[in-house]
Amino acid sequence: MDDLYRENIIDHFRHPRNKGHLDAPDRTYHDVNPFCGDEITIELKVEDGRIVDVAFDGKGCAISQASASMLTEEIRGKTLDEVRALDKDFITDMLGIPIGPVRMKCALLSLKVLKASVWGMEEWPD
Ligand code: FES
Repeated sequence: MDDLYRENIIDHFRHPRNKGHLDAPDRTYHDVNPFCGDEITIELKVEDGRIVDVAFDGKGCAISQASASMLTEEIRGKTLDEVRALDKDFITDMLGIPIGPVRMKCALLSLKVLKASVWGMEEWPD
């Protein structure tokens, strides 16, 4: 079963969904994993508190980029409150493979960027 999930991760890494930029995003946030320099930007179009369009850009390892690609597919149509409630378990379930502590920062980078964007924060709190 892990193999299927691994193949899915590799597919998202090689053929990322929703990669690029929106014409006029309502919210944009960019952040970097300080340990490796990998980065992700997420842009959102929001109407009536709901995400109607999303794009991401970035560079980095397969887990970080595949996670961002999958996350963009998951959040389209969700309300901002629903996105605020997403947690680490949602990401690990989405990826579907065991993620060790070292790779967890890779897996969570896109969620961190998304949450900061949704909360409209300039910086992520420590
Ligand atoms: Fe940089 Fe994964 S190695 S985010």
